[in-house]
Amino acid sequence: MTVFGGSGFLGSHVCDKLSEAGHRVTVVDLRPSPWLRPDQAMLAGDILDENIVREAVEQADMVFNYAGIADIGEANARPVDTARVNVLGNVMLLEACRKAGVRRYVFASSLYVYGRSGGFYRCSKQACEIFIENYQAMHGLPYTILRYGSLYGPRADSRNAIHRFVHEALTRGTITYYGAPTALREYVHADDAAAATLSVLDGEFENRNIVISGNQPMRVGDLFRMIGEMLGRELSVKYLEDPNSGHYQITPYSFMPKIGRKLTPPLSVDLGQGILRVMEEEHKALHPRLQAEGGYLMQPDDCRP
Ligand SMILES: NC(=O)c1ccc[n+]([C@@H]2O[C@H](COP(=O)([O-])OP(=O)(O)OC[C@H]3O[C@@H](n4cnc5c(N)ncnc54)[C@H](O)[C@@H]3O)[C@@H](O)[C@H]2O)c1
Repeated sequence: MTVFGGSGFLGSHVCDKLSEAGHRVTVVDLRPSPWLRPDQAMLAGDILDENIVREAVEQADMVFNYAGIADIGEANARPVDTARVNVLGNVMLLEACRKAGVRRYVFASSLYVYGRSGGFYRCSKQACEIFIENYQAMHGLPYTILRYGSLYGPRADSRNAIHRFVHEALTRGTITYYGAPTALREYVHADDAAAATLSVLDGEFENRNIVISGNQPMRVGDLFRMIGEMLGRELSVKYLEDPNSGHYQITPYSFMPKIGRKLTPPLSVDLGQGILRVMEEEHKALHPRLQAEGGYLMQPDDCRP
C-alpha cells in the first residue's frame, strides 16, 4: 500500500490503521513522517515528480492520495499551487496507477464537493473527483472517493478548527470564530475516520463515493460552551459572521444530482472525550515541564521556586 501525504494529519492515521491490519505501507511525502513506524517505509518526494511517483506506484497494490493543500484559507490564498498540487498531482498519480495496473485508487475528498462553499479548495476536490471517475470510465481504473467531514484529534496542527479553539481557550480564554454560533458540524475523530477508511477496501466500495463524517451534529455555539465547561471557565467568543469565510453554515450540501453513500463510522471516540484528549495534548505542549500523575498536574522538583 502506498500512501501519498502519509506524513500529514489524516494520512498518518490511515497509515497506522493499514499497518495494524498487516499491510505493508510506504509513505510518500515532501517531509519525512514524524509518526513513521518501524514496519513502514518512507520515500521523501514530491507528488509532482514523475520519477518518484512511478517508483512509488510501481509495486503498489493500492494507492492512497492524502497529499496536497488541505486548508480552505491556504487554497484561497494560493489558487495556482492548489491547482498544481491538488489537481495536477492527482492526475499524475492516476496516470501512474493506470500504467502500473493498480487495484484501487483511494482519494481523500471532502464534504465541500457537495456545495458552493469551500472556494478553490472545493474547486480542486471537484476537479479531482471528475478526473478519477473519468479514469475509471475510460481506463477501468478502480477507485474509492472518500468525502471526509470535519476531522479532529491528535497530530492536527493549528489549521484544524477544534485544535485552534482549544488552543485559544487555554491560552487566552477567548475564541474567535469566522461564522455564526448556529453553524452546524458533525465532527469525527481522526482515529474513527481512519478506521472507516480501512473498511472501504472491501469490493463493495469499489467505484463508489463515500461520505465519512460524524454522527453527532453540533452547533459551534454548543461546542464552545462544552469546551468552557470542561475548562471550568466562562469563555468569551467573538463571532465574525463573515459571509466570505468559505465555510458553510448548516449544511455543506447544495442540490446536486450526484449523491454519495454515507458511511457512519462506529464511534469509538465520543466527542467530549476526544476534545478532552486534544486539551491534554495542547496543555502538555504549552507547559512541557508539567507532568500528569494520577489525574493531577505535578510540578517537577527542579522547577519549584
Ligand atoms: N483534515 C480534515 O479535516 C480533512 C477533511 C476532509 C478532507 N481532507 C483531505 O485529506 C487530505 C489530508 O488532509 P490533512 O488534514 O491530513 O492535511 P495535512 O496538511 O496534514 O497533510 C497533507 C500532507 O501532504 C503533504 N504534501 C503537500 N504537498 C505535497 C507534494 N507536492 N508532494 C508530496 N506531499 C505533499 C504534506 O507534506 C502533508 O504531510 C487532504 O487531501 C485534505 O483535503 C482533510
